[in-house]
Amino acid sequence: MKPKVVVTRKIFDESLARLAKHCQVDSNQADRPLSPKQLLQKLKGKDGVISLLTDRISDEVLAKNPQLKIVSNVAVGYNNVDVKAATKRGVLVTNTPGVLDDTTADFTWCLILAAARGLIGADRTFRSGKWKGWGVMQFLGQDVHGKTLGICGFGRIGKGVARRARGFDMRILYTDVQRVPEAIEQEHGVRFVDKKTLLRESDIVTLHVPLFPETTHYIGAPELAMMKKDAILVNAARGPVVDEKALVKALKGGRIAAAGLDVYEKEPTPAPGLTKLSNVVVAPHIASASVETRRKMSNMAVANCVAGLTGERPPNLVNPDVLDKGV
Ligand code: DGY
Repeated sequence: MKPKVVVTRKIFDESLARLAKHCQVDSNQADRPLSPKQLLQKLKGKDGVISLLTDRISDEVLAKNPQLKIVSNVAVGYNNVDVKAATKRGVLVTNTPGVLDDTTADFTWCLILAAARGLIGADRTFRSGKWKGWGVMQFLGQDVHGKTLGICGFGRIGKGVARRARGFDMRILYTDVQRVPEAIEQEHGVRFVDKKTLLRESDIVTLHVPLFPETTHYIGAPELAMMKKDAILVNAARGPVVDEKALVKALKGGRIAAAGLDVYEKEPTPAPGLTKLSNVVVAPHIASASVETRRKMSNMAVANCVAGLTGERPPNLVNPDVLDKGV
């Protein structure tokens, strides 16, 4: 008998077709997030789940489904899954790394440029019919070329952002828990600094750190206070990396000039006052949302799931201990 898999939200038809070759598929094609109760109901008797960031796969959920063998997340991030609990229970967890790096780096630049040049406000004015023709003093933004870019988190996406920054003739600083080898710094034209130096010297600070307890509120009121008054903060990583209330206060009070956000602390709800601000660009978590990339992510999640349920090693295993140490 084919293993049973639940797909919690809509993914590409071609991915579902691939999955159906190997598994009995129960797919929530309505594309609305399942409530915790619905998720539990759907998981009953399933061997695998293809989950999204909107599904909380907690220890409780795993405990109630001891038959579950794999959680295959359609995302590179997996902070929605209690990986420690999954490992303890011998459940494989997989993600979709690599395929979204360039798309996310592209979009980070979209946020940087839109925030620096006030594109959204200008677009809105134009659409409203309020624009009365060209003027020297209208819609004045900030230059990006020649400025200092500070990259927090120099993984694959951070590096992609740096590569693109070279075309804008920028000075590029980065900070991370570890310095990369000198050859990689040279290749990307970047200089390693500590977090404080980066915050003090950068005109644009862009966040690419994963969400861990240590990176929660990585940027809060003290960090915002260190930034330049005309600085721009960009977050296409995870919402809780920024203290959103502190950010609203900083943007309101002119502590920093602008922000470009793709992610939020309590998605889908923004912090009070955030969307009232004209100096913030707010995107609904779409940094990886190109057709090509989301298709690759869907197919990758299916490949991981099928491998895990057919006795093969899933290519993108987050908790290898389950197989290697037989926990
Ligand atoms: C991820 O993959 O973690 C993104 O946030 C969604 O693409």
